[in-house]
Amino acid sequence: MTVEKYNLGARWFHWTLAILVILNLASGLLHEPLEDVIQLMTVHKSIGLIILLVTIGRIVWRLRWTKPPLPGSISPLERMAASATHLAFYALMLIMPLTGWIFSSAGKYPLSFFGLFLWPKLPISKDGPLAGPAHEGHEILGWLMLALVVLHIAAALRHHFLLKDGILRRML
Ligand code: HEM
Ligand code: HEM
Repeated sequence: MTVEKYNLGARWFHWTLAILVILNLASGLLHEPLEDVIQLMTVHKSIGLIILLVTIGRIVWRLRWTKPPLPGSISPLERMAASATHLAFYALMLIMPLTGWIFSSAGKYPLSFFGLFLWPKLPISKDGPLAGPAHEGHEILGWLMLALVVLHIAAALRHHFLLKDGILRRML
């Protein structure tokens, strides 16, 4: 079956951010169990800040084109589920780094970007109204994002191997 692909820029943004987001979900969830073996937080924060910048670029790019139409075999419910998940990803790729940046700004450690330079901290105090909710939001939304990533990958594999409708190839 021939399908119309996403444009090259969209595919590059998708796979770059997919890798970076998976790395950050893994480093976020594993930093405590692995803390005696490897210090993951500088890498986690630095990758997270890259995700923020690249996502802003991706959204600007995304607003300039319309995605290729889905085949008629996809039901209205599936279209809605896909759109809702994709929209949630764009929101989470902004909210996760922003909440991380906010509560880390209130912490005692400097925000080192891969040890190369200091990323500016936001004027947030530990006892102010933002630090606590940002920390809690970061943890809860991290789990939500993980669940959506599992769902999204399962959906892509279902389309490719079971339905064989070419959806995965739109993004390759
Ligand atoms: C898309 C980007 C990001 C994702 C997906 C992400 C995800 C996560 C996850 C899943 C956790 C573990 C939460 C838990 O313990 O249950 C975590 C922890 C953490 N993240 Fe992020 N994060 C991102 C960006 C950032 C950024 C930009 C910063 C700071 C500049 C940051 C700072 C932290 C810190 C300090 C923790 C440890 C919190 C603690 O143990 O109390 N994160 N992150
Ligand atoms: C953290 C990982 C990932 C994130 C955050 C993510 C995010 C997204 C987003 C936001 C879109 C919508 C693009 C748009 O129309 O603007 C999308 C589409 C897509 N993703 Fe992912 N993705 C991830 C991983 C993956 C993986 C691992 C696969 C394959 C196994 C995959 C397969 C696809 C496919 C096939 C589409 C196009 C769906 C369609 O045609 O409507 N994604 N992804």
